[in-house]
Amino acid sequence: MSKKIIILNGSPRKKGNTATLTAAFKRGAEKAGNQVTEFFLGEMNINGCKGCFGGGKDCNSPCVQKDDMDVIYPVYQEADIVILASPLYYWTISGQLKTAFDRLFAVAECNPNYRNPKKDMALIMAAEGYGFEESEYWYDRLEKHLGWKSIGKVLCGGVMNVGDISENEKLDEAYQLGVSIQ
Ligand SMILES: Cc1cc2nc3c(=O)[nH]c(=O)nc-3n(C[C@H](O)[C@H](O)[C@H](O)COP(=O)(O)O)c2cc1C
Repeated sequence: MSKKIIILNGSPRKKGNTATLTAAFKRGAEKAGNQVTEFFLGEMNINGCKGCFGGGKDCNSPCVQKDDMDVIYPVYQEADIVILASPLYYWTISGQLKTAFDRLFAVAECNPNYRNPKKDMALIMAAEGYGFEESEYWYDRLEKHLGWKSIGKVLCGGVMNVGDISENEKLDEAYQLGVSIQ
């Protein structure tokens, strides 16, 4: 059955290595009949969470802050699978992805027990080196805490500049992850 997939792409480089990985993933997922929506968070106006615990009153626009998260919320709520995509920045995910993810707390606030909607998830990352441990730790904790299910991780080290990833075998891994979603 066709799945709805949201990609939260935290790279500011729309033609960068992370975006090349997500494009390969998207090609595979769409080939398998799924519906994919990708957000390039760096070009959106998304403020940091205020920690006010005042959201969740209107589930169509659950945060007290009104910005581009209002475009993401309905797609996120509908999605079966959430793809967290980011370059490695100082041994963790980019601020763009973290900022947007924090703001998804407003959706949990729609539930009286702060229960998050159940999703499958995957992690897609690119980096100059190979130090993905901290990002994986964050992702694995998230999976456990949210009660989500990881369907895979595509972690591509050894890529620094735009274009470095072309011909990289991780592109096929990303594509195959997409194709595997049925
Ligand atoms: C602010 C900043 C911090 C970075 N920190 C790391 C790092 O800790 N480890 C690493 O291997 N690469 C690091 N990099 C390199 C990027 O992860 C690498 O260039 C990656 O390919 C960028 O992905 P993109 O093309 O999707 O933007 C950093 C780059 C920037 C701009």
